[in-house]
Amino acid sequence: MAIDIKGPAEIDAMRETSLLAAATLRMASTHIKAGMSTERLDQLCKEYILDHKAIPAPLNYRGFPKSICTSINEVVCHGIPSSSDVLKDGDIVNVDVTTILNGFHGDTSRTFYVGDPDATARHVTEVARTSLDLGIQAVKPGGRIRDIGAAIEDYAHAEGFSVVRDYCGHGIGREFHTDPQIAHYRFRGPNPRFRPGMTFTIEPMVNVGTWRVQLMDDGWTVKTVDRKLSAQFEHTILVSETGVEVLTDWARLEGSRYDC
Ligand code: MF3
Ligand code: CO
Ligand code: CO
Repeated sequence: MAIDIKGPAEIDAMRETSLLAAATLRMASTHIKAGMSTERLDQLCKEYILDHKAIPAPLNYRGFPKSICTSINEVVCHGIPSSSDVLKDGDIVNVDVTTILNGFHGDTSRTFYVGDPDATARHVTEVARTSLDLGIQAVKPGGRIRDIGAAIEDYAHAEGFSVVRDYCGHGIGREFHTDPQIAHYRFRGPNPRFRPGMTFTIEPMVNVGTWRVQLMDDGWTVKTVDRKLSAQFEHTILVSETGVEVLTDWARLEGSRYDC
């Protein structure tokens, strides 16, 4: 397994595309409300990304038909935006944005509340949010890739939830998905050391019931087999000399060209 180590110019490009992905997701979040379709969210993100001289990475990626993924409630990931998917009060919806700017990918997602979700929906969403934070905190000089999944699994299980095994974080750069594979659970397999200049995503999917998932007939939409709720958060991160830079952190938008 060859893991790409990025140099200063590539790191700057990763910072730029990741910032745009974060800005797009933040923009989208301000529009989310009951009654709106996921198709509308897709249009808003597509226009925003194109307006910033970038390309929405999902569009035509292995035949994916839209510019973002929108995954509602029991949809784990890769939901296809549609005019027939109308958000309703109590839903949770993950919006996953990936940009290509100057040839580099930035990938980030969050799960949002539509109106007033019930306690279980809020709990799984907050556990997914904290799982991402704990995964990021597990990235330390001298540490190894499997530390991420160990931290996330221990926490999610303690909260009574399961962690999806079939979809992982991934190396990212000029390619959308590359080595290393970042599992969000304890797994046996490659366990490379963190090296400064590595860029990858952490994107845990946390389920209320079983971790088992099912691919729908559209070839993309992934649901929990028990149709219980699933929530996900994703950041693109850079391993630095001293720790980690969260390239898609919304805090980085303050004082940037995307400040509003
Ligand atoms: N953004 C997703 C990820 O986090 C990948 C979406 S691929 C698509 O890796 F084709 F479904 F858009
Ligand atoms: Co990703
Ligand atoms: Co993503």
